[in-house]
Amino acid sequence: MTVAALHDPDSTGETCLQLTGISKRFGNLHVLDDVALSVRHGERRGIIGPNGAGKTTLFNVIAGELAPTSGKVHLYGREITRLPPHSRARLGLARTFQTTTLLPGLTVVENLVLSLQALTPTRFQCFVPRTRYRAFREEALRLLGQVQLDHCADWLVRALGHGEQRQVEILMALAQRPKLLLLDEPTAGLSAADAVLVTDMLRAYHRDVAMVLIEHDLSVVFNVVERITVLHYGRVVAEESVEGIHDNPVVQEIYLGGKL
Ligand SMILES: Nc1ncnc2c1ncn2[C@@H]1O[C@H](COP(=O)(O)OP(=O)(O)O)[C@@H](O)[C@H]1O
Ligand SMILES: [Mg+2]
Repeated sequence: MTVAALHDPDSTGETCLQLTGISKRFGNLHVLDDVALSVRHGERRGIIGPNGAGKTTLFNVIAGELAPTSGKVHLYGREITRLPPHSRARLGLARTFQTTTLLPGLTVVENLVLSLQALTPTRFQCFVPRTRYRAFREEALRLLGQVQLDHCADWLVRALGHGEQRQVEILMALAQRPKLLLLDEPTAGLSAADAVLVTDMLRAYHRDVAMVLIEHDLSVVFNVVERITVLHYGRVVAEESVEGIHDNPVVQEIYLGGKL
């Protein structure tokens, strides 16, 4: 895939995620204040902002773990503001967390099979029929092949490097074939080299899925996304293309301290 293709969001411009007037208060604390956000089909969007700006709270509102105090959330034109997380997942919303969700004593493929199985009506069965398992395994291998990880399909997760483990974790979310994937600091705690593995994977992943990533490592943001939204004290204070963010005076002053 060419770099131009990577940075050319879906030409239909269909809106994937739309937030309007989202506010969230915890008692007297206004954590989100009239947030508007619009993400197109297949877009890669970065959310940056200082610690405590409200980024994770915003993800919790989008994913349905927190109800907003006011405002609306739409996914592909459908209002989902009051839907529980599992209903949103069925509509194509997936997320990764800052804490790991892998089972290190199982193999890579077994972890992925569990994720795939969770999507089907057999999810509460301990034993999956052999033919079913074979189909899950094939799908898991296909996913691993997409990100050049098929060679470690049968390794224990704990034998993988940290970057590869993070890749598998993201792949478990992608296994659900979401239309929108929320990634909360996908390279947190990784070495620079491991972060590159994750960055490259996100960059190259096909455009059927939109991704919104919270990230404080700006090199990751610049490599993966085409637009950046800046949150500060729960408000959107800037929204810019990656090229424009360098020159945005608001961003330089309140967040980057002139470091760009
Ligand atoms: N459940 C909660 N109850 C009260 N305050 C909260 C809760 N969750 C987050 N906050 C507060 O909201 C603010 C934003 O937090 P968060 O969304 O985690 O910020 P970020 O992810 O940008 O670092 C912080 O001041 C945090 O203490
Ligand atoms: Mg956070």
